[in-house]
Amino acid sequence: MNKKILVTGGLGFIGSHTVVALQERGFDVVIIDNLSNSSIEVLGGITKITRISPEFENLDLRDKQAVNNFFEKYQDIDGVIHFAASKAVGESVQNPLLYYENNLNTLIYLLQQLKEKEAPKFIFSSSCTVYGQADELPITENAPVKKAESPYGNTKQIGEEIIFDTCSAVPHLKAISLRYFNPIGAHHSANIGELPIGTPQNLVPYITQTAAGKREQLSIFGNDYPTPDGTCIRDYIHVMDLARAHVIALERLLDDEQAENYEVFNLGTGKGNSVLEAVKAFEKVSGKKLPYTFVDRREGDIVAAYADTTKANGVLNWTAEFNIEDAMESAWKWQQKLEEKN
Ligand code: WQD
Repeated sequence: MNKKILVTGGLGFIGSHTVVALQERGFDVVIIDNLSNSSIEVLGGITKITRISPEFENLDLRDKQAVNNFFEKYQDIDGVIHFAASKAVGESVQNPLLYYENNLNTLIYLLQQLKEKEAPKFIFSSSCTVYGQADELPITENAPVKKAESPYGNTKQIGEEIIFDTCSAVPHLKAISLRYFNPIGAHHSANIGELPIGTPQNLVPYITQTAAGKREQLSIFGNDYPTPDGTCIRDYIHVMDLARAHVIALERLLDDEQAENYEVFNLGTGKGNSVLEAVKAFEKVSGKKLPYTFVDRREGDIVAAYADTTKANGVLNWTAEFNIEDAMESAWKWQQKLEEKN
């Protein structure tokens, strides 16, 4: 009998790629998504890749009764991977209560259900944003969690604390928080990828939309940072490397004797690239010259962040296999597929 995994936010960017990886690993998947930041078409994209249509429940995890009803209906959930959350840094500053309700109440309702189960396993989608501007690079999991620069970042920090405290109080609950650096790219089939709604906040979808002629030019937020070329440095990790890490982490939790009650892992490539280097990588793989201009720094941006991946490499036996050019190539192929559709 296949193990059944609930993936919340499973029609989102990282969620959908993780559903594919789970199905290909033989897990049965049920998705919860309220379609607030995703499209039902993603379900078709997943099915096109794996030929298996995941079960899908369109429900809002802020509705406590709906969450309870879900677990009444699906008594056979063996684990949960929780992606569903709001994730726009700037929006969280404008509307903090939306972020605290959507990112924390939902987590609490899920954990309240899970703790009643026999051997619950939980994976939390966290972020390197919890480190803020780290004092030392590369960033290890022991780096201090600093005062968040945004309510979004704060919800990730508080979320991790809620899980830690719950695992301490409920010994049969096992959990892992995965701190992503900068997820980019798309599945190589271009049947699923990043689907930003409205103007992309993140760098790579803005680059691909500019190359596709949907945006006039890329605005690079600041070229006066203390870095070799003056632009910010990030650790851009292929979304399929990230998806594979979730399956490995889940199998660690399911294989009981290995995992501690609560563990945290950084997921990155371990390599930092500047914004200009990211642009050059895109130009190289796409053969397109990208129009860009330098503008003022963006509020809240940190100068540099890239992961020390020693722990995930060793404990999870996981290492990112794709580089930034692979990721840019897959992102561009996905954007071109989107243009064909529209
Ligand atoms: C990357 C670099 C920008 C857009 C955020 C969240 C993180 C995660 C990923 C959710 C920065 C520059 C960007 C543009 C630019 N989110 N940039 N022009 O801010 O590192 O991380 O998204 O999981 O938690 O904090 O990612 O892609 O927005 O920016 O110059 O139009 O690109 O200044 O240096 P970020 P990003």
